[in-house]
Amino acid sequence: MSRPTMWQFVVFCCLTSVQINNALRSVHQKSMAAGRLENVTQTISRILEGYDIRLRPNFGGEPLHVGMDLTIASFDAISEVNMDYTITMYLNQYWKDERLAFNAFALWGDNQREQTGELMMEDDGANDVITLSGDFAEKIWVPDTFFANDKNSFLHDVTERNKLVRLAGDGAVTYGMRFTTTLACMMDLHYYPLDSQNCTVEIESYGYTVSDVVMYWRSTPIRGVEEAELPQFTIIGYETNDRKEKLATGIYQRLSLSFKLQRNIGYFVFQTYLPSILIVMLSWVSFWINHEATSARVALGITTVLTMTTISTGVRSSLPRISYVKAIDIYLVMCFVFVFAALLEYAAVNYTYWGARAKKKCKKNKEAERKVFGKSEKSSTGGGSGGGGGGSSDDIIELQDIRMSPIASLRNRHYSNTITTTDSVDAAKFPPSFRIARSYGSSTRSGLRYRSARGQGRPKMLHAIKRGASVIKASIPKIKDVNVIDKYSRVIFPVSFAAFNAGYWIFYVLE
Ligand SMILES: *[C@@H]1O[C@H](CO)[C@@H](O)[C@H](O)[C@H]1NC(C)=O
Ligand SMILES: *[C@@H]1O[C@H](CO)[C@@H](O)[C@H](O)[C@H]1NC(C)=O
Repeated sequence: MSRPTMWQFVVFCCLTSVQINNALRSVHQKSMAAGRLENVTQTISRILEGYDIRLRPNFGGEPLHVGMDLTIASFDAISEVNMDYTITMYLNQYWKDERLAFNAFALWGDNQREQTGELMMEDDGANDVITLSGDFAEKIWVPDTFFANDKNSFLHDVTERNKLVRLAGDGAVTYGMRFTTTLACMMDLHYYPLDSQNCTVEIESYGYTVSDVVMYWRSTPIRGVEEAELPQFTIIGYETNDRKEKLATGIYQRLSLSFKLQRNIGYFVFQTYLPSILIVMLSWVSFWINHEATSARVALGITTVLTMTTISTGVRSSLPRISYVKAIDIYLVMCFVFVFAALLEYAAVNYTYWGARAKKKCKKNKEAERKVFGKSEKSSTGGGSGGGGGGSSDDIIELQDIRMSPIASLRNRHYSNTITTTDSVDAAKFPPSFRIARSYGSSTRSGLRYRSARGQGRPKMLHAIKRGASVIKASIPKIKDVNVIDKYSRVIFPVSFAAFNAGYWIFYVLE
């Protein structure tokens, strides 16, 4: 029985000693950590003791080199109206402030030194990095970096101010922050919406000239551009530059990052180009509608013209009031012209049909009146029948006109009946004036003679002009059938619109 007890006792002792050992070690580690933390606090307090925040590192000596790198978090918006764009990014600045160097060995204690001692000694403490809260930046000197084309910016402060300060043992400082900024970007909209824009981020020190602070891009200056997404643009490239900017207060080092943004045409194809094309095509429907359907064709013409106006108003509302002509203006104006021309085409058709007829009728009336007047003058001794004769001739000419118009003839069958009877002519039923009106050619000649006799006193130039005008009129081909205009329009309009489109897209897309 005693043996098992002995064994138990030995095992118990061993376990206890292990436990005590562990406990002792943890106590030791805890005190070490506490000491280390105490040493960090001491170190920082020591660093800031006598630190003058107003003076840049290496004051009075060589210019301080401040490295920059940017990470694009997101492209938020690009506004043509305000000529700016909004971007969220992480900006990191790197510089070396010898006053902030701390003794790595004093900081980390013996334990740490044994583990990485050799390395640290070679690096002069550069690998010892302590990350401090962003507030620490208020206690040390930081560069007065600003964005030269900035309109409005803010630092994000959820949940805390998005800032970081990292201090290396050799005094190298990393100062990072995350913010959203709206930057001016003057856009050239000549090719809008088939354009590409070049927007920049301009970084500069506000107060320190090149003799105090020189900024430079780090080896990997920009990150996150490939991941950035924009609804209306594609980032097709970016590049970094640095140059010296000469201002009234001195020469400053300026870093610039430029993005090349290509506008995506898809939105405009569906919102503007396609509707415009369809509206123009809609206006051609008019050419296939009978020219007598006045209300249908006019309504169609007016509707398409108004729709084009609405489309161009919508486009204009998203653009600044630029005086120069943009690519989209040219397209919309041309569509408007096509739609308007289709409406005018109908005006031409209508005029050729009804207007010319009315003119002829008017002329005939005059001729008839004149003849009747002459006759009645001749037969004035017969007495009193002149007025009645004139009235009847009017009626007859009216009838003739009505017969020529298909609509009227359809509407008034009985009229046409009477007309057919007139055609078969029992001329004796009508007064002499009607016969005269039919023998039109001879009457016009006499009319001209009559007129020339009247206008003998006028200058000859007027005659010459009149003659010239009549020659020109004669040279214009007389359109007998108004449907010819529609027939030609059916071909000319689509062909010229296709030609315009071909020219437009070749010019702007291949540019
Ligand atoms: C704290 O720093 C002192 C020297 O300032 C050093 O002697 C001591 O070992 C350090 N303590 C620890 C726990 O590292
Ligand atoms: C943008 O414009 C600037 C100045 O005009 C030029 O230096 C830069 O190369 C352009 N950027 C791109 C990406 O084309």
